[in-house]
Amino acid sequence: MTAKEYKALSVKEFTKAAEIYESDNAGVYNMCKKDYPEVLAELEKEPFTDLLDCGCGTGPMLTLLHEKYPDKHYTGIDLTPKMIEVARAKNMKDVELVVGDCENLPFGENSFDAVICCESFHHYPNPQDFFNSISRVLRPGGRLVLRDMTMNSAAVRWFCNNIEMPLAHLIGKGDVRIYGRDDIDKLCRNSGLQLELFEKRGFCRLHCVVRKPVKEEKRYQNITSSYKQSSGIYDDVLTRKKWWSKLYIRLFWGNVDDNEIAEKVLSYIPEDFSGRLLDVPVGTAVFTQKKYEALKNADITGLDYSEAMLMQARERLEALENVKLVQGDAGHLPYKKEEFDIVLSMNGFHAFPDKKAAFRETYRVLKKGGKFIACYYVKGRSRVTDSLVRNSLAKKGWFTPPFDTAQMLKNRLERAYDIKEFMVKGSMVYFCALKR
Ligand SMILES: C[S@@+](CC[C@H](N)C(=O)[O-])C[C@H]1O[C@@H](n2cnc3c(N)ncnc32)[C@H](O)[C@@H]1O
Repeated sequence: MTAKEYKALSVKEFTKAAEIYESDNAGVYNMCKKDYPEVLAELEKEPFTDLLDCGCGTGPMLTLLHEKYPDKHYTGIDLTPKMIEVARAKNMKDVELVVGDCENLPFGENSFDAVICCESFHHYPNPQDFFNSISRVLRPGGRLVLRDMTMNSAAVRWFCNNIEMPLAHLIGKGDVRIYGRDDIDKLCRNSGLQLELFEKRGFCRLHCVVRKPVKEEKRYQNITSSYKQSSGIYDDVLTRKKWWSKLYIRLFWGNVDDNEIAEKVLSYIPEDFSGRLLDVPVGTAVFTQKKYEALKNADITGLDYSEAMLMQARERLEALENVKLVQGDAGHLPYKKEEFDIVLSMNGFHAFPDKKAAFRETYRVLKKGGKFIACYYVKGRSRVTDSLVRNSLAKKGWFTPPFDTAQMLKNRLERAYDIKEFMVKGSMVYFCALKR
């Protein structure tokens, strides 16, 4: 049979089944109901925001998920228009339902952080196309929870695939093939995915978790390694604790005192602040520790890309129950719109690899009227500093071009913020701006 013929058979089978699929008279499909709690339990092991249900049918899993987690965004896709029609009749808010083929998913790259596929995969004549499609639409770090039929013994699987299924076609079933661990492993490898869990559960259930690996881009790898190497001396340089760091600041940074600038920036946070503050990048918390100790009623989140820096921040701040530390990217903040009253960014924007994304994200998560307070390096103020940044710090990965001049930064801020204070000291700028 051709792929087209298999698919036509599936559509025929499920057009007939659609009206009774979720009823008590669903016959053989009643078995699928036993899968739902286990798919849910697997999914609940990690947070997700955008979920795709492949071969969603009439949407039993989407119904369950939507009732339990109504604030997530859901998409369901199925080849059989009648199944989607029944799913749409449920009128679930924020659930998109699409008639389409899972072997060629009509969604953009990196659209979902979780994909489920329950009792549909054995209908796909081109399983590699499905895995390739999943690899494209999943975000790095995202996962596919695949639940289907299988048999432990290769001989029994051979019997099912070569005797039982062709017979089933005669009675209108669109089943194509069931798989063992080696098959799934190969499909994963060929599509750049990782098979994280493969289990045979119960009499004949395949339960898999497949992950899209996170590949660090070169510019991010640079940051990770440079901050790891420098984590032992980072604080000494910034706080001018050692003779050589004093000399370095004097020679290359026009003697601008980072301690003083940090004090100014932190003075924008009221003593009795009791809202939510995002500190990105939190670094080692060398400048902020004292301030955070005093802000007993604030809810503080510190985010940094470098685990090495976070480890030191953890040591400094671990006693503070109101401070959370999170590994993450300033260009892709894991927070909802307008969650924070203050966004603080000390010595971050000259290091962020995607500055546009970082500006967009810090703006997005800040409440209207909220404070954006920051300090960082700007170019065009000192030839010596610019040359050091260009020829050494940027090459090592501590700084990442392109850099703003003070005027460029001011213009950028003015587009979205009311600037309360904007000060330039040597090659450093610090400011306080309110989101309009
Ligand atoms: C047994 S039902 C499973 C429905 C639902 N996932 C569940 O767990 O109850 C299988 C579904 O897979 C769909 N299907 C089969 N081949 C497909 C394909 N190539 N792309 C999308 N859906 C497909 C069928 O239309 C049918 O709705």
